Amino acid sequence: MPPVFFVEAAALTTLTAFLVGAAVLVVFFAADFLGAAVVRAAFLGADDFAALVAGFFLAGAAFLAVVVFLVAIREYKPHSSCGIGSNCKFAIKRTKLTKMGTKGSQTLFIGRRIVRLDRVDSTNSFLNGMAATGALSEGAVVIAAEQYAGKGQRGASWYAEPGANITLSVLLTPTFLSVKEQFRISEAVAVTTAETLAEFLPDSDIQIKWPNDILINGKKSGGILIENSFKGAVWMQSIAGIGINVNQLEFPGDLNTATSMAKVSGEKYVFDEVMEVLFGKLEAAYLTLRAGKSDEIRSRYFQRLYRYDKSAVYTDFKSVFTATLHDVSSEGRLVLMLETGEERQFDVKEVGFI
Ligand code: BTN
Repeated sequence: MPPVFFVEAAALTTLTAFLVGAAVLVVFFAADFLGAAVVRAAFLGADDFAALVAGFFLAGAAFLAVVVFLVAIREYKPHSSCGIGSNCKFAIKRTKLTKMGTKGSQTLFIGRRIVRLDRVDSTNSFLNGMAATGALSEGAVVIAAEQYAGKGQRGASWYAEPGANITLSVLLTPTFLSVKEQFRISEAVAVTTAETLAEFLPDSDIQIKWPNDILINGKKSGGILIENSFKGAVWMQSIAGIGINVNQLEFPGDLNTATSMAKVSGEKYVFDEVMEVLFGKLEAAYLTLRAGKSDEIRSRYFQRLYRYDKSAVYTDFKSVFTATLHDVSSEGRLVLMLETGEERQFDVKEVGFI
């Protein structure tokens, strides 16, 4: 259950238990004070001792509910909802302004409403919960300084140093695309994230590793998790989760293959400035899709696709083989051309890059 509902339920329980407990105690002691045994008996149907026990029991329930509530709000601390450029408080200190960051465009709907959280399990899950209440319109964004259960692709978890990276989710309702065209959104989000990094890091090589990992100079610096929901054949909603390594400088252990914008450039970045560029590009790409020009996005995807048209080594987890990355199907399957000339298609879990 999303934290917002948990908190609301806990708050309601607390209030109810507290009011009932307090009411019982007030009535009991008032009756006792006035010596009105009749009132006590009518109200509680019990003698003094039983009434006292009932009162304490309800007070105990109220106390427990307060404890549950306090634990719950530790996981749910939203700031105000606000858009880019407004004066809302954010958990991350503003750092040095970058030259590129001031170039962002104003958007019509993406990022017009931003829910900023200090800490949440996953921005994707939180946004999904909020969207289910019907309270949000397309383009709403949830961003968190820290995710304690960030979700990655293939059921993996996504860890990002708190306060140092962008972890956000965008609500999209691509009802104009068919279920078979799911990969279009993935392509658009990957392309626009990569192009955003390219704008801030003009001297670096920014690529997309199929399906939608973002690489800076060959090292992973961002990931995308798209979670879709359908109603029959209609694509109702897409939660586009985007993680960008921005100001993190240390990558523990096996994350030697990871990097960040700051690690590459030696600069520190302001999140709002990166987001402004990202949302502008994402909205433009989304409108391009909506105008039926998905090939435009697709060709930008292939321009940045890691290993595209190159011979390299892969594994299908039974064998290791050399192949050329030939295509990505409209459903998002990787199309490899083997040395024998045979073409094979793979889903995300079926192939590894070596
Ligand atoms: C990957 O495994 O490469 C995808 C990582 C996606 C991480 C982002 S961070 C914001 C959003 N919320 C999540 O829980 N995951 C995505």
